[in-house]
Amino acid sequence: MAKCAVFSSRVPSLVPNRWSQMLSAFPPRVDLTVSNPTLVGLPYPPDLLAPLAHPRGMAYHPAPAGLSRAREAVAQLYRAQGLPVSPEQVLLTASTSESYSLLAKLLCEPGEGFLVPQPSYPLFEHLLRAESCQTFFYPLPEETGFRLDAARIPLREGVKAVVVVQPNNPTGTVVPPGEWEALVALCRQRGWALVADEVFWEFPLSESPRQSFAGNPRCLTFVLGGLSKLVGLPQLKVGWMVVSGPEELAGEAFLRLEFLADTYLSVATPTQQALPEILFRGLAVRQAIGERVKANLQLLRQELSAFPFLQLLEPEGGWSAVLRFPRVVSEEDLVCELLEKSGVALYPGFFFDFPHEGFLVVSLLAPPEHLAFGLTALGRTLEAKLSRP
Ligand SMILES: Cc1ncc(COP(=O)(O)O)c(C=O)c1O
Repeated sequence: MAKCAVFSSRVPSLVPNRWSQMLSAFPPRVDLTVSNPTLVGLPYPPDLLAPLAHPRGMAYHPAPAGLSRAREAVAQLYRAQGLPVSPEQVLLTASTSESYSLLAKLLCEPGEGFLVPQPSYPLFEHLLRAESCQTFFYPLPEETGFRLDAARIPLREGVKAVVVVQPNNPTGTVVPPGEWEALVALCRQRGWALVADEVFWEFPLSESPRQSFAGNPRCLTFVLGGLSKLVGLPQLKVGWMVVSGPEELAGEAFLRLEFLADTYLSVATPTQQALPEILFRGLAVRQAIGERVKANLQLLRQELSAFPFLQLLEPEGGWSAVLRFPRVVSEEDLVCELLEKSGVALYPGFFFDFPHEGFLVVSLLAPPEHLAFGLTALGRTLEAKLSRP
C-alpha cells in the first residue's frame, strides 16, 4: 500500500502479462516481432559511424533547437522531395518518442490529450499518460482497409491534437488524398494541431498516391521523423519535428518548443555535428532496409499461397504486415502456442487495438529464412485446428 501512495499514476501496473511471461519461459528462436534494424543481419557499412569521431564534436555550444548544420541537413531531406521546409522549421530531439512528449507539454493541460488512430502504435498511451495527458481514439475503419476517414473522427472536449501515422504501424496504410484535405480542414476548424508521424515514409510498399504533411501551412502541423527508421540507427538517438502552419502560430509554437528543449538539451553534440555525413552514408542502410521489406512482402505473398485461409492486408508502406486468420482460436492462445511449440514469436492484433479478434502482425524486417519458417509454423498450426472435426 505504501508503495501505491509514493508513486504517481503516470506509470501503469507493471505486472507481467501472459505474453511477457511466455517470452521469459520460451525465448523465441524465430522473432517475427522484431523492429530493431540493427539485429536482423542487414549490411551496415563498417565505417558508418566514423563521422562521430570528428573533432568538431569536442566543443559544446548548446543550441536548444539543434545545431544549424544538423537542422539544415534535415530540411534538405524534405526539400529534396519538393516539400517547402527551411532549417528554421526543424527542431531536433533525442527520438520520436521525445518529440511526442515535448508536444504533449507544449499543447496540453493535464487531463487534455491527443486523438490517436486505432489500430496503431501502442506506445501512444504510455507516452501521453507519462505527461498526465489523455489518449482519445479515432477508428481507422476496417471497411476502408484501416485507412483514415476524417468523418469518423470524434469531436470531443479536451482534444488538442490529432495524430496521424503514415504509413501506419502496423497496418502500413497512408492517408488517402481526399482525407488529407478533410483532416487539415477539420484541424483548422477545431483549432487542433496536426501531428503527423512519418517515421516510415521512406519505405513505400505500393504505388498508392500519398502526400506528406511536412510544411503544411494551413493548420498548426508537426511532422515527426528520425534516424531510428530513416537510416536504421535507433542507437544514435536523433529525431526531429518540422513545425509549420499559419505563420504567427507556427512561430510561437517553435519558440515554446525551443524553451522546452532548452530545459533538457538532450541531443548529443557529436551526433548533431555528424548528422549530414550520417544521413549521406546511411542511404546504403535505408536502401538495404527497403529491399529487405519489399523482398519479405513478396515472400510473404508466396508463402501464404499454401495457406489460403490466411489473408494478407496489403500494406502501402512500413516495416510490418497484418494477417487476418479464421477465428478458430484466440489471438493470445495462438501466439502463445506458436511460441511454446515452434519457438516463433508473432504479435497478436490486440496489442495494436484492432477492432476485434483474428489479426496477427508480422515483421517484414526479419531475416527471410525466419519469415519463411515462422509462416509455415503458423500455417500448419492453423491448418491442424481447421481440420479438427
Ligand atoms: C509509428 C512510430 N512512431 C515512433 C516510433 C519511435 O521512434 P523513435 O525510435 O524515433 O522514438 C516508432 C517505433 O517503432 C513507431 O512505430
